[in-house]
Amino acid sequence: MNREDFPMLRQDIIYFDNGATTYKPQCVIDKITEYYSEYTANAHRGDYTSSIKVDMEYEGARNIVQDFINAKNREEIVFTSGSTQGLNMIAEGFFGNFLEAGDEILITKSEHASNVLPWFRLENKLGVKVNYIPLDDNYYVTLENVKKSITPRTKVISLAHITNVIGDLRPIKEICKFAHEREIFVVVDAAQSAPHIKIDVQDLDPDFLVFSGHKMLGPTGIGVLYGKKELLENLEPINLGGGMNESFDSPDKIFLKSLPTRLEAGTPNIAGAIGLGEAIKYLESIGMDKIQEHEKELRSYLINKLIDIKHIDIIDIESDAGIVAFNVLDIFSQDVAVYLDKYNICVRAGNHCAKILKDEVGVKNTCRVSLYI
Ligand code: ALA
Repeated sequence: MNREDFPMLRQDIIYFDNGATTYKPQCVIDKITEYYSEYTANAHRGDYTSSIKVDMEYEGARNIVQDFINAKNREEIVFTSGSTQGLNMIAEGFFGNFLEAGDEILITKSEHASNVLPWFRLENKLGVKVNYIPLDDNYYVTLENVKKSITPRTKVISLAHITNVIGDLRPIKEICKFAHEREIFVVVDAAQSAPHIKIDVQDLDPDFLVFSGHKMLGPTGIGVLYGKKELLENLEPINLGGGMNESFDSPDKIFLKSLPTRLEAGTPNIAGAIGLGEAIKYLESIGMDKIQEHEKELRSYLINKLIDIKHIDIIDIESDAGIVAFNVLDIFSQDVAVYLDKYNICVRAGNHCAKILKDEVGVKNTCRVSLYI
């Protein structure tokens, strides 16, 4: 964990917006540049040396992701453009095909837009109902409240693993166990957790889980959709096109490739996937446990300093991740962010894409510090 590894940190910047995106270490930048300058070719399409090298690097990145989240099969790792695309694919391509009017989807009011809007669309299209698990006094999800929210019509629970404003870590393993005993599916948005804590999908046991490369030192435009193999087999590809079909002659004779390629139509984000693989190698060279520990220390340092400053209202002093949302009393959050920028301090201000969280917290906008290594 060396500052010198990050070219952006050569500037006089205090970067506290890692929940939005992260700086890239030189090794990730080099890896991407190497693809563009030394062996550019498409993936899965060529028989010449550089294209074979591309296939090895691209599929090698898939193996790295598989190991990173301890997935049972490499076919369970689908490259996407990011968490948003993954969640839309799951809602539309899987649940859109079998939910019926009256079925219920459980989320919370602290979800990011990408874990709300795809479900709202299903409600509008299919007549399913989106319900909310109530949050406790700290705005956390408890297993008790999940239990209270389940009805015989509940078919899916879709939750962030760590939320992007409060920073609370949800008891996903316990929720999965409880849900699976009732044949309820669990979808996990790991955009704010995969970069920061060790994820083991076989231990947590979600049915689907998504995350984004750019929030974990990787490039933008690349993400991962994990799904249990037997479920992914039934996820209808939203995109049809090159690379994902075996053959086609007429509308009734379309044969698709097997997983994961059938869900990656068109030229994939090759540089992105390779860059993400390198970012994961970098994170693992430090160790996810160490990263989590370091963020915890940074967070408690930050909280201790913030509580000493008068007129600061911290939304949640105790949450688990390196995310701290606060307001300076009577000052608009965006004005605080602009003021901090004068000191080269980058924070995010606003509603952070969690637009219905205000119903629970009572304030619409906050400043958010999101820490990382
Ligand atoms: N989802 C990102 C954030 O929370 C952009 O800031």
